[in-house]
Amino acid sequence: MKKTFLFLLLILITLIQYSQNLKSPNDNLTLNFSIDKLGRATYNLNFHDQPVILNSGLGFILKDNVEWMKIDTLDMINNFTVKDLTYNSLDEVWSPVWGEESEIRNNYNEMVVELEQKESRRKINLRFRLFDNSLGFRYEFPLQENLGSFIVIDEKTEFAMAGDHKALWIPGDYDTQEYNYTTSKLSEIEQKSKEFKEENVSMYRFSDWGVQTSLMMKSDDGLYINIHEAALIEYSAMHLEFNPSNMTFESHLTPDAYGNMAYMNAPHNTPWRTIIVSDDARDILSDRITYNLNEPSRIEDTSWIKPTKYMGVWWEMITGQSTWWYTNDLSSVRINETNYDELEPNDSHAANNTKVMRYIDFAAKHGFDALLVEGWNIGWEDWFNKKKDYVFDFLTPYPDFDIEKLNNYAKEKGISLMMHHETSGAIRNYERHMDKAYSLMNKYGYKSVKSGYVGRIIPAGERHYGQYMIDHYLYAIDKAADYKIMVNAHEAVRPTGVSRTYPNHIGNESARGAEFRGSKLNHTTILPFTRLIGGPMDYTPGIFEMDPRKNRPDFTPNLNETLAPGSVTTTLANQLGLYVVMYSPLQMAADLPKNYMRFIDAFQFIKDVALDWDKSVYLEAEPGEYVTIARKEKGTENWFIGNSNGYNKRVSVVDFSFLEKNKKYRATIYRDSDDADYAKNPQSYEIENIDVTSKSKINITTVPAGGFAISVFPN
Ligand code: NOJ
Ligand code: CA
Repeated sequence: MKKTFLFLLLILITLIQYSQNLKSPNDNLTLNFSIDKLGRATYNLNFHDQPVILNSGLGFILKDNVEWMKIDTLDMINNFTVKDLTYNSLDEVWSPVWGEESEIRNNYNEMVVELEQKESRRKINLRFRLFDNSLGFRYEFPLQENLGSFIVIDEKTEFAMAGDHKALWIPGDYDTQEYNYTTSKLSEIEQKSKEFKEENVSMYRFSDWGVQTSLMMKSDDGLYINIHEAALIEYSAMHLEFNPSNMTFESHLTPDAYGNMAYMNAPHNTPWRTIIVSDDARDILSDRITYNLNEPSRIEDTSWIKPTKYMGVWWEMITGQSTWWYTNDLSSVRINETNYDELEPNDSHAANNTKVMRYIDFAAKHGFDALLVEGWNIGWEDWFNKKKDYVFDFLTPYPDFDIEKLNNYAKEKGISLMMHHETSGAIRNYERHMDKAYSLMNKYGYKSVKSGYVGRIIPAGERHYGQYMIDHYLYAIDKAADYKIMVNAHEAVRPTGVSRTYPNHIGNESARGAEFRGSKLNHTTILPFTRLIGGPMDYTPGIFEMDPRKNRPDFTPNLNETLAPGSVTTTLANQLGLYVVMYSPLQMAADLPKNYMRFIDAFQFIKDVALDWDKSVYLEAEPGEYVTIARKEKGTENWFIGNSNGYNKRVSVVDFSFLEKNKKYRATIYRDSDDADYAKNPQSYEIENIDVTSKSKINITTVPAGGFAISVFPN
């Protein structure tokens, strides 16, 4: 045994040419960088003595873009030598415009390795930043003689796993993230991918071994490992492809129509590749590497960026009771030619003056900031997957939507309307109209826009997560900032902390939200560990009537059916908990006013809950099982606690020791009743008022897909 060990050590020593270590500020993590005999750059990462990432390769296959038609690929994998090595460290605190806390510590040790490839003389730098529970690294291409403008054919970043971990993943796809999560061993990904039957209007699954980031894993000995990226700018989104023969993930970038992965102009950097690791799942949720690796805000005056609680003329379209479109008489629209005044309106166009005013009244009465109205503009009659370039103009309202009158009415009542720009993926068309569309918003007082990218991208061959689209999403956000407009993008790429730099980017969907319905019971116990690692999600919680058919006046129950198709698969108390669990500065009360009227006492929590926080305390967390979070409202002494529970009935222990000592508080608990059942009895909840102090500890039982919410106000 001893002999074999010595032998292996000898091989390792002779194989390694160069090796350097970096420790995290608290010594939790050790990063090793080395160059092997072939001149291959590799890294590995340890959490104390436990391996997180085994020796993994770094590098690229590039193509020179300077000379016309030159097709030789440049191998940037072997033959590296280290030219220079520098160490830095930083310990600073910064204040986000909005966030889970009002102050974020940015504390890391850094190592920059300057590499040069022998013979070719091409240079590439590797910048590693080691935080207490996370590693970020990126490639930097300095301006140099031998590499100016070039194409990334393949990025060869590896993440070698130390075991066949449990993973919570969605399939690798260039166009959608709107999937249920699968929980499986890494070695089972291919088989489970093949069993996956979900459909979406724009899907492109590149491989049965492919998964998307942020990827959450747990090792057999209880190590939580998360892989994602930060600051995805001027590059394409990274997926991961697993190779079962060496238990290694390799980066898989999103290609364009030619199969190219990214276009670079030196000096240029890749996004950061991030790994968060801890033996306590709560540390994954509290880690802020994704924001810390993004640049500070580019927007100087941020006074117009405000967390927003909103309702919408929306759920009735999502559940099929109303339409976005104005008439049923058209199979095709020509913008600026079709005369809507001559057409017969249908009875179900929701964005009409009377209905919008009713919604404004309700939202204003209950203290909301904004009301989203979808289907206000011409073009919805043939809006998706028609490969239509001029699909909307984002300017012309339908005849029954009086844009001036409705905005004035909303303003009088103290709320603003939220704009909706569905692009249907026609990017050139959206960019062509953007200035006029944002000017129109300024004219009528809209403060925020929900944009959307349903369907295949035009130009054809581009993908939702390719560089062309990454550039577009940022262009839209940057331009919106010029008009002091906040952006919430649906179907866009999943976030990577870029909203630190552009804090007007207050929301993203980019995952399977409540609108999908029929989600797995543990869906929202996974999202905080995956999708939310990059930034907030417009999840659209607050559904009180789980069975959408019951919204219809003519509904007659089918007594044989326990769970109607298209139902939301949680209890009502779980929906309340999501306002805290699913952090977002933009929160919707997504259901219909009439359903809130039926459960007005539970609706109180949605009215009370804050959107912006001084502090967040992660009380209990296990990916796929449960999440319980307490948050202190920014600038007040109010606390809000939320829980989402997965498949198993469970008792949560809420320890209030986060409260200020010697202070009395009144807590209102909204929880599942004993007989609550997501399928048969989702609306069975109890509300209880109790006094609490920092010494209080209470047990709360949650049913499968159940949860709870607690508001805590000082007495
Ligand atoms: C998909 C979005 O996610 C949804 O919220 C929106 O209502 C539709 N597209 C229409 O734009
Ligand atoms: Ca969507």
